[in-house]
Parts: sequence; C-alpha cells; structure tokens
Amino acid sequence: MTEKDFRSSYDEVLPSEGKVSWKAPSNIALIKYWGKKENQIPANPSISITLDACATTTSVSYSRKEEASQFSFDLFFEGKVKEDFKPKINTFFGRIEAYLPFLKQYHFKIETSNSFPHSSGIASSASGMAALALCLMEIERRILPNMDTMFFKRKASFLARLGSGSACRSIEGDLIQWGRHERLTDSSDLYGVTYPFKVNKIFSNFHDAIMLVHKGQKQVSSTVGHDLMHGHPYATTRFAQAHSNLDALEQILAKGDMEGFIQLVESEALTLHAMMMTSNPYFILMKPDTMEIINKIWAYREATKTPICFTLDAGANVHVLYPESVKEKAIQFIQDELVVHCENGHYICDRAGSGAKKLIAQNT
Ligand code: PMV
Repeated sequence: MTEKDFRSSYDEVLPSEGKVSWKAPSNIALIKYWGKKENQIPANPSISITLDACATTTSVSYSRKEEASQFSFDLFFEGKVKEDFKPKINTFFGRIEAYLPFLKQYHFKIETSNSFPHSSGIASSASGMAALALCLMEIERRILPNMDTMFFKRKASFLARLGSGSACRSIEGDLIQWGRHERLTDSSDLYGVTYPFKVNKIFSNFHDAIMLVHKGQKQVSSTVGHDLMHGHPYATTRFAQAHSNLDALEQILAKGDMEGFIQLVESEALTLHAMMMTSNPYFILMKPDTMEIINKIWAYREATKTPICFTLDAGANVHVLYPESVKEKAIQFIQDELVVHCENGHYICDRAGSGAKKLIAQNT
C-alpha cells in the first residue's frame, strides 16, 4: 500500500457524537530503529516483540462542532487535565489531518492512562500513540462501516508511526516488522506488518522483565538521537547491518537457535548505544547499574547455561529476555541479583502479547 491509499474523503454524513476506546501495548525492539528520514520514514528496518502488560488505555469522545476552523480537544491523563501533552497531540493531528479529514469537524475529549507508573522511565509514546491512532481509526470506521480489517490495522499503524515511529509496531502481536526489507515483500516503511516467517516454539511466550534502573527524564530524547544519525560516521554501515541482522534472525527464529538469538539481540542493543556514544555530540544513556546488570546476566549465563539475555531501549533500563521454559529460574535470579540495581527495587514483569484491544463499542 502507498501513502495515497491512506488518504480519505467522505460523502457520508458524519455522526454527531460518540465515544471509542482502545488499549494498546508497548513493544521492545530486537533489531533497533535508530535514524530516520523525513515523515518518520525509518533509515533501516526493525523488528520488535509486542508486550502485554505495559499498555496505554485511551478513550476518545467526539462531538460535532459548528465551525471546523482548528483542532479542538481536551486532554486528561490519569483523570487529570494535562496541558503539557497538548502540543504533541496538536502536532500529531497536523501530521495526520490529510488522512483523517474529520479531525477539525469535532471537539474531542481524550482520556488516557498507562498500566505502568508515569515516572517509570518507560516511554509511553509507542503505546500512547498507538492507542490514540486506533481510537481515531475507530471513529473513521463509524463513518465508513465497510472498512476492511486489514486496512483498519495498516492505517492505524501508519497513523501511529506519524506520532512516534516505533508506535507503528504496537498495533498487532507478537512479532512485528517495520521498514522495507528485500526478503519480506509485504514489508513497508509506512507501517508495521506481522512477522510472516516460521518461528520455532521456543520463542513463543517470550518474557521481558524490565529493570527500572533510572526512572527520571532522559538527558537526550529519541528525536534528538535519531537526528544525530544524519552525518553519523557509522550510519551507512549500521543501516546495512540492520538488514543483514534481519536476514540472520530469520534463520535463528526458524531453527530455534537460542545462542544465535542471544548474540544477535545483545549486539543490537549495544550497537544502538554505540551509535549514541559515537555521534556528534556524543552522549551516554546507560548508568552504572545498567552495566552491573549486563555483567551479572553474562556471568549467570556462563555459570548456569540458562538462556537469559538483555536488550536496551533508548534509556538506562534493562529488558531481561528469557523463554517460558526458564521463567522460575529467571525470576529467582532477578530477585537475588538484579533488583538491587533497580531504582527503589522496582521492575516490571512483562511478556509477548497479542496486540491492541478494542474496549467498548458504544455506537451513538
Ligand atoms: O519511536 P521512537 O522515535 O521513540 O524511537 C524508538 C527507538 C528505539 O526504541 C531506541 C528503538 C526501537 O526500534 O524501538
């Protein structure tokens, strides 16, 4: 599908009011997206595990306005008015208006909340933008009731991407690829698609325990980080590497090659942070406790041969990944050795999930 396929125009009478509600999960990338072109087009393809517990629930109430001059909405986060989220939503509406021409016709009340604590250092932009995009698509589906489900999901992913790149991987589960890659003819830079190739069952029900090393604001935002990949001395090599890692991962997943998986996933995480450390200006998002956790995972894996590995997002927190078969051992290890490195001992046990869920169907 091309960008033009997502442009809408309606002859239908628009509903006067209503309410829609969706819950969308977060996701963690195995092959990282870092660097983008104009209009949130990724510089390289990425692949992620859709999570289950870490999610955003959003309700959007809509009522027709007399005048359609500008965007108008009220925003509530966890029950309270949240003025500082408004500019981001306003920018998002501006970017997606061409695809959802009803936006200026309504006044919206957006109510949103996260399943994880606000100051956990977990980025809510992926789940938040996915939940909002799905709510807006639900409104469009009320205008165009014959909409095909595949189109609904692809357009929701397309819109979410315009809010926050990785959000496009939070619509479906449990392995999602985003970004054009030769081997996957259905892949696109515009939206995420479910990973179509064979995945050995040792990778199903994968767990992700998120060690909350640092809950404060990051010193450098993802937006700035992506931007620093322009003119980065290693950019070309890195983007090519993501493509070859995607090819390698296909074999790893199909064969159930746990060792290959661990090696590739940890290398991707460290490469992401290596890009940050070698950009101009350079920066470091890992903390001493991030390193302590990584070293303890390596030592534990070496000593016990338990298949536990880590990945990182653009922050200090460590995502500890392990298969279902070792979950008791892994939790014991986390409690005995890793919790001490988490801020206030906090961590979140999550796992692969099946994607976003529609919560109510209140047709008015
Ligand atoms: O979606 P953004 O712009 O917040 O970027 C996300 C970048 C990483 O989380 C570091 C990697 C990824 O692929 O999710």
